[in-house]
Amino acid sequence: MYGVVHNSLLDHLKDNHASHDWEDVMSELYDYPQEGFLLFESYDDSTLLSMIGKAIEVGQFKPADFLIGFGEYWVLETAPKHFGAFLSLTGNDIHVFMSNLNTVHDRASALFPGYSPPSFRISGNIEEGDLQVFYSSKREGFESFVIGLLQGVCKRFNLTGSVKANGVLESGESVFDVSLTK
Ligand code: HEM
Repeated sequence: MYGVVHNSLLDHLKDNHASHDWEDVMSELYDYPQEGFLLFESYDDSTLLSMIGKAIEVGQFKPADFLIGFGEYWVLETAPKHFGAFLSLTGNDIHVFMSNLNTVHDRASALFPGYSPPSFRISGNIEEGDLQVFYSSKREGFESFVIGLLQGVCKRFNLTGSVKANGVLESGESVFDVSLTK
């Protein structure tokens, strides 16, 4: 993944789990670049996965909770900080926003050549309580991160939403139910 994701993880740890010196903790990993990550440089996924593993081990976090927190942080802090204009053009409500997400990831390929973004489609309507989000990726194990991303998207649109994983289709798409809690 591109360094913007690794940097986001470090920012999330520093902002929300300040009990440790995370630069110090991460520098113990053999593939952690001592000079830091460049936002627009691609690094092996295994580097990000070992950083997540290290954070969970040292911070004694529950893995799913940690990934949910990181997903929210990406949407609410990192994306507005680095890609504010992109984000504002993506849509003014959750349905338009989620429907445009593949185009956003496609457009972002100009900044991140050769990257492997996920893809999303939706069905239903959050106001009627049946919004479903279908997620596909060549990666495995990011479902809790996606729950956090979708919670972040709800917050972005001032919705008090609840997001639940609801299995995997034969097509390989993971399904998430998004509903309003009040
Ligand atoms: C303007 C906003 C956004 C930009 C520029 C962006 C860009 C990126 C980039 C660079 C990656 C790393 C992929 C790689 O290096 O191969 C990524 C991954 C990802 N993005 Fe986005 N993203 C944005 C918003 C979102 C939002 C709002 C969501 C979901 C609601 C989302 C879902 C994901 C997921 C799940 C991944 C993990 C990779 C995977 O599942 O395969 N992104 N995105």
